[in-house]
Amino acid sequence: MKSINLNIQDAVYFADAQFKANEAAAVEAITKLAEGSGEGSDFIGWVNLPSETSNELIDRINATAARLRENCDYVVCIGIGGSYLGAKAVTTALSDSFADFYAPRPKEPKLLYAGQNIGEEYTAELQKLLEGKKFGIIVISKSGTTTEPAIAFRILKDQLEKQAGKDAAKDLIVAITDANKGALRAMADKEGYETYVIPDNVGGRFSVLTPVGLLPIAVAGHDIAKLIEGAAEMEKSTAHPGEDNIAMTYARVRNALYQSGKKIELLVNYNPKLHYFAEWWKQLYGESEGKDGKGIFPASVDNTTDLHSMGQWIQEGERSIFETVLSVNKPAVSVRVPENAENLDGINYLAGKNIDEVNKMAELGTKIAHVEGGVPNMQIKLDKLDEFVLGQLIYFFEKACGISGYMLGVNPFNQPGVEAYKKNMFALLEKPGYEKETEAIKAKL
Ligand code: PA5
Repeated sequence: MKSINLNIQDAVYFADAQFKANEAAAVEAITKLAEGSGEGSDFIGWVNLPSETSNELIDRINATAARLRENCDYVVCIGIGGSYLGAKAVTTALSDSFADFYAPRPKEPKLLYAGQNIGEEYTAELQKLLEGKKFGIIVISKSGTTTEPAIAFRILKDQLEKQAGKDAAKDLIVAITDANKGALRAMADKEGYETYVIPDNVGGRFSVLTPVGLLPIAVAGHDIAKLIEGAAEMEKSTAHPGEDNIAMTYARVRNALYQSGKKIELLVNYNPKLHYFAEWWKQLYGESEGKDGKGIFPASVDNTTDLHSMGQWIQEGERSIFETVLSVNKPAVSVRVPENAENLDGINYLAGKNIDEVNKMAELGTKIAHVEGGVPNMQIKLDKLDEFVLGQLIYFFEKACGISGYMLGVNPFNQPGVEAYKKNMFALLEKPGYEKETEAIKAKL
């Protein structure tokens, strides 16, 4: 049962000819993904991941999550990029917006994040928050050598060992990393941490449905079996080419719009719970497609908030953008605008309406204005926000990304460009092994 619908009618007519012409390329892309015959096919383990996820793995992850929930008031999830954004996206979408402002309750630890930046204040403030608290750590790094999480882990591991004692700390740390390689694997084996493996053939930005995303999501109290179930449904319905394959259709429309000069895609939401979903999506599409001098630039806005900041540009700026709107059909709760006898604010015409009715009219009004202003608009309608629907949405975007990358003619599964900054940073920090680079970069300063 599909809980997601894709509406392309206000987008496709902007690039009708290109859309009609790209069907064969989309079919070829789907075939490459199915047969593993495309570039980067060492990294397409995510394609069948939902249907191949065992109940044993889900049960084990739930057991680890229950242990951390039992013993911690805070669980710090350390990771960056693909080792962070998926969990953050799902937990933000499914959790109370103000969860962090309530005191921790027994068996409901707060999920915190670290190692996703190298902000000194952020780290110091996190250390301060955790002072004297019962906390645990999930440290995630596929390579096991990424600088940002390595720094955060060194600092927080020290703090945990001081606060809980080395023996107890060992049981409060879980490492998710490669089966054999990397510093994190070596450290986890030496210290005796519980570990989960990130499959070799699943790249970071496609790893949310592995323990990388599943363990933090389970710690936050969400139903990971349902998430996988939703993803498996979408895996089935997008396996073959056809008009009802919405991943193929989305990839085709993006590709057609790109060919017609629309170089920027805005992922738009009208629900603040989806803010981090857009951050996850930006990494997925940005790292997969932005290479060889090509690729749609993925950007995002949170509406109606950003209509008051970015709205002018979207309505009347350079006509190089298109929008993909994430629209949630049913909010989980109901809040009505009250009647007011004095009506000093002049909004009695809204009295009795749900907030969401107002939001939906803002969405519709914006769509009509933007389309008339030359901005193609696709809509992804979600029945509601729950684990099953989010599982479908995650897989939908992953599959469409693989198809879209192949249609663009790039290898969607590598990220060579990410190394450039690292090389310079290591050279500037005089990392052993980078002596030549250090000399060369210092000569430029
Ligand atoms: O998609 C990717 O491969 C990257 O964004 C990685 O997820 C990110 O750099 C973190 O890497 P690692 O998990 O090796 O620490």
